[in-house]
Amino acid sequence: MTQVTQKTLLRVLGGESLKTPPIWLMRQAGRYLPEYRATRATAGGFLDLCYSPDHAVEVTLQPIRRFGFDAAILFADILLVPQALGAKLWFETGEGPRLSMIESRDDFERLNPVEAIHETLNPVYETVRRLASELPAETTLIGFAGAPWTVATYMIAGRGTPDQGPARRMMYQDRALFSDIIDLITDATIEYLARQVEAGAEVLKLFDSWAGALAGSAFEEFALKPAQRIARELKSRFPHLPIIGFPRGVGGGYLQFAQSGDFDALAIDTSVPANWARDMLQPHVAVQGNLDPMLMVTGGPRLRVEVERLREILGNGRWIFNLGHGITPEADPRNVEELVNIIRG
Ligand code: CP3
Repeated sequence: MTQVTQKTLLRVLGGESLKTPPIWLMRQAGRYLPEYRATRATAGGFLDLCYSPDHAVEVTLQPIRRFGFDAAILFADILLVPQALGAKLWFETGEGPRLSMIESRDDFERLNPVEAIHETLNPVYETVRRLASELPAETTLIGFAGAPWTVATYMIAGRGTPDQGPARRMMYQDRALFSDIIDLITDATIEYLARQVEAGAEVLKLFDSWAGALAGSAFEEFALKPAQRIARELKSRFPHLPIIGFPRGVGGGYLQFAQSGDFDALAIDTSVPANWARDMLQPHVAVQGNLDPMLMVTGGPRLRVEVERLREILGNGRWIFNLGHGITPEADPRNVEELVNIIRG
């Protein structure tokens, strides 16, 4: 007899449709929680949290203790990989991330080789190991990384940009350099995620937050293909590993992700109509999403209306409840509690 898993998230990723869907939220550990703000103040800054296993374990567990979510997501950031590759990284308070930029072949050549990343990232693997042993038996541990395109947009521009202009410009003007950057990040991401799995991550999620900015053939070349290479390589090393893709904003491109057969679930952003996801995606993959994060700020009767609408449309198939993007610092924890009560009846 094979062992039957009881973890709800793993069951849905394995193909089951559950009456009560598993629930977790993107950015569930974060500034909307007073206990997160308190731990961050003790740690120093955001990056100190990420690299201190004591603190990172604590903030990962905070939303699990408070809300009993079905999954915990490792507390870290997609920009730790660029830092491990040798980019300078810092966070300007109230402004978001800043990195040293890649503007030339010389800047690229100065980065570290893939084998060197673990020296920086070892504390993250330690966090995963501790979480794997400390989480409640019913909670699934999700590891993650940024997808190569999204990570490249930050490495090239040195910051978040409204339209990912600097990376899109390099993609057209110096395709050889741009492709080399994507390949390096892809290789580093594979090794980073493999270590997370070896340390105890049970599911992986690949965040391609800016995939929607890729037009024409670039979508396939720099969003779909690298994500597939990462998923295939990891599944060849860990055959039963479930992988969630999040190619945010790609519209109909979600169908190509679903039909590729390389992903067990796709996280859908708020622009994806739920009935389209039911008809086109759920036959191929589990669907995760896609409530408007603003409802965690506003709550009220509309919250129940929108959750029940999603349940009606997606609830008969493979469905993981989540928001369409990360929960915001303005969210009210009481609305999150209400949400969990609505989902679990
Ligand atoms: O989801 C979780 O709770 C796990 C941890 C996690 C963080 N970032 C913590 C974080 C995850 C999965 C991420 C992913 C991430 N990071 C993405 C992709 C997902 C998405 O939201 O689209 C991106 C693009 C980043 C890069 C990043 N990190 C930005 C642009 C910012 C600044 C904007 C912001 O929200 O402050 C961060 C900082 C960050 N990452 C915070 C947290 C909790 C806030 C840091 C703080 O405490 O000030």
